[in-house]
Amino acid sequence: MGKIKVLNIGDLENNQSKVVNVEDKEIAVFNVDGEFFAIDDKCSHSDESLSEGEVYDCKVECPAHGAEFDLKTGEVLTPPASKGVTCYQTSTDENSIYIEVEKDA
Ligand code: FES
Repeated sequence: MGKIKVLNIGDLENNQSKVVNVEDKEIAVFNVDGEFFAIDDKCSHSDESLSEGEVYDCKVECPAHGAEFDLKTGEVLTPPASKGVTCYQTSTDENSIYIEVEKDA
């Protein structure tokens, strides 16, 4: 596992999301009321950016066809997507947001 700095805390305002590129993966990082979550940006249903989706109750709704994903686990909650997306553990210090990325197994 590697802990990688992805953003400064000040770069991601409350209830905003941003896509970061880590080891060739596009990862969407969300700030939900000061808590940070990170999941794969690409929806498992088709090629859509989850960072563009609406966030509520710690879920994100895909802007294309409305599948919902749990930001805490990456699990899919509603169709039409049938698979979850990868979820990454986040951590912070005073200034920075980090995510844990598994090295290629
Ligand atoms: S692309 Fe996300 S639900 Fe279809």
